[in-house]
Amino acid sequence: MPKVTFIRPNGETTVVDGADGTSIMQTAVSAGITEVVAECGGTLACATCHVYVHDGPIDALPEASGDEEEMLDFTACPREPTSRLSCQLPLSPQTDGLVVRVPPEQY
Ligand code: FES
Repeated sequence: MPKVTFIRPNGETTVVDGADGTSIMQTAVSAGITEVVAECGGTLACATCHVYVHDGPIDALPEASGDEEEMLDFTACPREPTSRLSCQLPLSPQTDGLVVRVPPEQY
């Protein structure tokens, strides 16, 4: 099971066992990481699943699509070079050990 570590806005670190093929957003929601809001349920219509990819096998993640790039302009917290929408980030054996930082605001 690919593990993903969430650095929460209060500095707390939560390590979650994810499942292959599920998104980081789904993993966060299932684990009760409420700072990942995911209002649209993963349809690329909200930008409330914003995370900063912090460490680990970053190259195993897919490139952002054009639609994701557009939605990243609507994040509540400033967009950074490492900003991604976590509903677009699938877990796989190759992503094991990924670390993402959750921004303090999603609205
Ligand atoms: S959950 Fe809405 S864009 Fe990711």
